[in-house]
Amino acid sequence: MRIYVTKNYDEMSRKAANIISAQIILKPDCVLGLATGSTPVGIYSQLVDWYEKGDLDFSEVITVNLDEYRGLGAESEQSYVYYMRKNLFDKVNLKSENVHLPDGRITDAEKACRAYNTMLAEIGPQDLQLLGLGKNGHIGFNEPGKFFEKDVHCVELTQSTVEANQRFFEAGKSVPTHAYTMGIRSILRAKRILVVASGEDKADAVQKVFFGQVTPEVPGSILQLHDDVTLVADEGAFSKCRA
Ligand code: F6R
Repeated sequence: MRIYVTKNYDEMSRKAANIISAQIILKPDCVLGLATGSTPVGIYSQLVDWYEKGDLDFSEVITVNLDEYRGLGAESEQSYVYYMRKNLFDKVNLKSENVHLPDGRITDAEKACRAYNTMLAEIGPQDLQLLGLGKNGHIGFNEPGKFFEKDVHCVELTQSTVEANQRFFEAGKSVPTHAYTMGIRSILRAKRILVVASGEDKADAVQKVFFGQVTPEVPGSILQLHDDVTLVADEGAFSKCRA
């Protein structure tokens, strides 16, 4: 595992964006696995900057997102497809047919998951998968549990995740309780994995995920078994890993 500890969020974003852009330059038709949430916002903004300066070309890049809320489509500002359009898709020259997320509008969970699994199998492994970490160590929406779920599946979100997501929803609007997410196998089949974490409230998760026991109770801990993982964490997020 490679670890980069940065001074702050901005440096973390720049470092991670550098790794992603190197991937795109090396392989212009790469498959990029993408994440949403607050952590990658600065990364996407940096990538957009470089695109606008003419340093990056997304015209052949294929993207696959980790997850989407069940019941939400692009018209909903809280959907992940909306987030991706706002932060990246609409700002660079990605082709609309090359971007993929689970379809939250399909409420039949089995159908939605089957469709996304099939699509992932057809596209092939992610060359690089970007991941954020939940405070409870979740990756994608793989929440702590008794076993690792392998493929794309529908999850009931834990109370702590629902609460953490509340900030993205207007007061009074209820946060979805279910989401479609890549499973552990869908994530681990990526050739390279890039994990980003920022802030002291992620310090416990970073410590447990990378230096604790591998257990489904800390879903991200499975990353210890992947042979090409890079962690970019700022000092706050890495603060519990220093002996
Ligand atoms: C988002 C995702 C989640 C987030 C995690 C951290 O697509 O899959 O696992 O990466 O919840 O979220 P933030 O970055 O908001 O702390």
